[in-house]
Amino acid sequence: MVDYDSAKEFWEDKILPWEESRYSAIGGLSPLSWTVRRRLFKAVGMVRERMDKDSRILELACGSGHFAGHLRGACSSYFGIDIASKAIEEARVRVPESTFQFAAGDVLESPWPAADLTIFLGLTDWLNPPELNRLFQKITSPEILFSYTEAGTLNPYRLYRKLMDSPEEHRFDHAKMYSSPFILGLISDFGFKADTVVAPTVANPGGLIWAVRASAEQSAGR
Ligand SMILES: C[S@@+](CC[C@H](N)C(=O)[O-])C[C@H]1O[C@@H](n2cnc3c(N)ncnc32)[C@H](O)[C@@H]1O
Repeated sequence: MVDYDSAKEFWEDKILPWEESRYSAIGGLSPLSWTVRRRLFKAVGMVRERMDKDSRILELACGSGHFAGHLRGACSSYFGIDIASKAIEEARVRVPESTFQFAAGDVLESPWPAADLTIFLGLTDWLNPPELNRLFQKITSPEILFSYTEAGTLNPYRLYRKLMDSPEEHRFDHAKMYSSPFILGLISDFGFKADTVVAPTVANPGGLIWAVRASAEQSAGR
């Protein structure tokens, strides 16, 4: 196993092969890819259904812009941030339209533009609890769409992670799992009301949440 010194070094090495193994036509045949592809397509559908075309979207941990590529015509502006500059270079090629902007940086350190919706798929898995708190503290948009992973002790996904990850739980190269009550509690602590779009199951440990800031919900009369 390679001994990485930082999350940036880890992701510069991992993200493009990971995307190839999940999103390419050949990678899509792998049994590991369907949950990630389903998550992407479900999330794209939710954005198209729930957001106006004049909304501003912020995507954290955007990778090389796979999600962004599906948002053409669905928003007035899009800003994606990822720690891996290799992924950002590729995102700029994949989605060159001027309304789509990309920046390389750590989401916990970089400034973010104002947005109506903040999206993060596959990011909570790589942040420890204090980092997750810092992430939620930074969010200013009235709505959020994000994923998390919850797998029971006997779920085969846990074995897969054991084989793949560094043994140190809190390190950047060890994937985290969070229980649904923990995630729902976090959302509520930060003043959001959660709508569980996809609940984690044994076959698919990935959860997807749409959350609306309680004050935004009141002013929209929902
Ligand atoms: C599992 S991939 C998911 C990529 C993409 N969101 C998707 O669903 O296809 C995790 C992504 O998080 C990014 N990432 C991890 N930690 C980050 C951080 N602190 N700041 C910015 N990006 C980060 C990685 O570079 C990688 O692109």
